[in-house]
Amino acid sequence: MRRFCSVLLCLSFLLGMVSCSTTNASEPSVEDKYVIGFSQVGSESDWRLANTKSMTSTFAGDDEYELVIENARQIQENQFSAVRKFILEGVDFIIIAPTVEEGWQNVLTEVRDANIPVILLDRSVAVDDDSLYLTNIGSDFSKQGKLAIDWLEKESEFQKNRHPDEDHTVQILHLQGTIGATAQIQRTKALEDAINTHSEWEMVGQLYGDFTEAKAYEVMTDYLKTNKNIDVIYSENDNMTFGAMRALDEAGITYGTNGQVKIITFDATREALQYCLDGKISLCVECNPMFGPSVKELIEKYRRGESIPKHVYVDETAYTTYELTQDIVDGREY
Ligand code: AHR
Repeated sequence: MRRFCSVLLCLSFLLGMVSCSTTNASEPSVEDKYVIGFSQVGSESDWRLANTKSMTSTFAGDDEYELVIENARQIQENQFSAVRKFILEGVDFIIIAPTVEEGWQNVLTEVRDANIPVILLDRSVAVDDDSLYLTNIGSDFSKQGKLAIDWLEKESEFQKNRHPDEDHTVQILHLQGTIGATAQIQRTKALEDAINTHSEWEMVGQLYGDFTEAKAYEVMTDYLKTNKNIDVIYSENDNMTFGAMRALDEAGITYGTNGQVKIITFDATREALQYCLDGKISLCVECNPMFGPSVKELIEKYRRGESIPKHVYVDETAYTTYELTQDIVDGREY
């Protein structure tokens, strides 16, 4: 690999060490490896942990590659530092899972000036020049939003036909992920667009849960102290859903097939699917984090000089209690 060893050597000298090579005799030394620097968003959700695992297990055991992961703890500034560190170390390739879309122009230009190819993973960036990165691999978040809205339309129709004499206003509480992240922007857009075109749908609140269980539990607990009229919770990821369910339990509000509140959640982790099979969650929209092998394939294509599509979407679907079986749940990788 390029300048990695010489930079390590300098650092070794600075630290008073003698050599840059610490590998044992049977392993290829770091200078023989293709080094990939990966700036990961954080560890905020089960989805994220599964995504990191998919990346590490894909490259682990492959002597040709060295995957160096920097966890940004959901702070964009940490990502900038990590990317600049990768440039300084002279890695061969950089992968970025951007926390939020805005703010990437400068650092991506620096990466291009250093002639290092970049793949964007999971979320996207808002830059004028898309030649600043090779490709963006991840979910089609607007399709996910559409799957959720399609289901809610059918469910509302079903309830109308079932109880024609009742009030058909649908009071929706929205739990939002990290503001400015592609997953938040597209899932929010799907809901807000739908509210504008469905006169009976009413947004009763938008709460900020930052894609974490703890934050969602906190804001939901607070919200439920004064507001209890909710028909639907539209939660932008499973971990926020788990926090919301705990808050609903504590407030004595029922949810699920025979409950007051219907829950729509995004990710479809094994735990959420189990709740769905048990009738507690009404819809799980899948967000597939297992794309480590596809990332590796893209890097290998790039190295062979083959053309790469500008956007690669992973396969995803949605589940209700009726499509699920225990086998599907147990077979879930994440
Ligand atoms: O960007 C993907 C989203 O980020 C997932 O829905 C969420 O769980 C994660 O934190």
